[in-house]
Amino acid sequence: MNVSILGTGYVGLTTGVCLAFLGHKVTCADADEGKIAMLENGEVPFYEPHLADLITEARCNLKFTTDYSQAIPGAQVIFIAVGTPPGPNGAPDLKYLQSAARGIGENLSGGFTVVVNKSTVPIGSGNWVGSLVREAFEQRNGRKSNGNFSVASNPEFLREGTALHDSLFPDRVVIGADTAQTGEVLYTLYRPILDQTFQPPPYLPRPEEVGAVPLISTDLASAELIKYAANAFLALKISYINEIGLLSEKVGADIAQIAKGIGLDARIGTRFLQSGIGWGGSCFGKDTAALIATAHEYGLEMPIVNAAREVNRRQRERVVDKLLGELRILKGRTIGLLGLAFKPHTDDLREAPALDIARKLIERGARVKAHDPVAMERFKREHPDLEVLCCETPEEVARDADAVVLVTEWPQYREMDWEAVAKTMRTAIVLDGRMVLDRARMSRAGLKYLGLAC
Ligand code: UGA
Repeated sequence: MNVSILGTGYVGLTTGVCLAFLGHKVTCADADEGKIAMLENGEVPFYEPHLADLITEARCNLKFTTDYSQAIPGAQVIFIAVGTPPGPNGAPDLKYLQSAARGIGENLSGGFTVVVNKSTVPIGSGNWVGSLVREAFEQRNGRKSNGNFSVASNPEFLREGTALHDSLFPDRVVIGADTAQTGEVLYTLYRPILDQTFQPPPYLPRPEEVGAVPLISTDLASAELIKYAANAFLALKISYINEIGLLSEKVGADIAQIAKGIGLDARIGTRFLQSGIGWGGSCFGKDTAALIATAHEYGLEMPIVNAAREVNRRQRERVVDKLLGELRILKGRTIGLLGLAFKPHTDDLREAPALDIARKLIERGARVKAHDPVAMERFKREHPDLEVLCCETPEEVARDADAVVLVTEWPQYREMDWEAVAKTMRTAIVLDGRMVLDRARMSRAGLKYLGLAC
């Protein structure tokens, strides 16, 4: 099928590249000329494992452009995957969505087109986008649009760092549409994924347990709400285990065992029960805020979602409290942060806990050093105001430090020669912000081990 993707962020680019890999003809459009120039040269503007490889593989089915008049006419499916950054009152800022919808209306031509909201958009956006496309079409063409397009919602559940895996082998596909014809078009588009009939690339083998992928066909509003409800649930699962972690610490229990002990109950599930500093990233914070903002519009409170946000905020403060408890004075101390990105396998720094923690430590007069395998360049570019000394290696972060904090659980930090590291530190203290280091091993290496929940 002929597909256009508007917006080449994590969601848009991953979706476009995966659909091109499956054999569709895909045009990716973005207003950012720099991004499009990079993509044309086979470079990816952000770090995502194997995305560059898949672009190379699908190159013959991919086009990149900054021009909507190249991308839209003739497309059977147009995905809107533009950014919806957080606005001042918790509701997302929809200016990019609005301009994409207008651009579609101005350039629509040819047969029936399905316009798909792929960005996480507030409930009701499907209708709103429909009216913007219609208005722009009618203004440009001086005639009624007469059902030449329809709007669908197809929320995305990919995680950064495993974006390709999540797109090619999803747990489910959700399609919200108000007409059967619209649903049919998207069903055809996703058929290779739903039936898992494609041959995956060697670096993304199909997990053994993956069979046919369930399709949830529903109305627009339900699809839109599924996305928010899913992210909020995952966020509150993490906050729940972090709240239990507080009590676990007090009573001397082991939070990892507790997570396993409750997670093996199939009704609860083991995933997203990793206790630690809590969630960051562009989604959970923004989507929980948006859910609360939408609820307010309808006169509803969301006490559980609010509490999950509050617990998450406190986890970052706990890092500083733990260090204070141990070192007593932070002024003049040197604290090393291992990891800047909001999670491993990405260079995304949006809402990254490391930023908040660094800021709080600096406010208290500490010197902060940091390392991240892939996010340091982005950090220097995006946060020049934050006085953090970026080090080439994690060992350098630890040298002469009064404590190191494991903020992002990159696998290489677990494998470090901690014994050698301990010898170079001023005081050999490690604060395990993600509860992934082996306490006994750290003690053997000569480090005082502090966990965030022990
Ligand atoms: C999240 C969702 O997991 C995706 O399904 C969704 O598509 C995406 O948001 C989105 O809305 O676009 P993402 O933000 O990329 O994906 O990353 P996650 O893997 O969900 O991690 C989010 C944060 O939670 C990270 O900071 C991670 O360190 C933290 N986390 C995760 C925990 O603290 N504990 C856990 O057990 C799991």
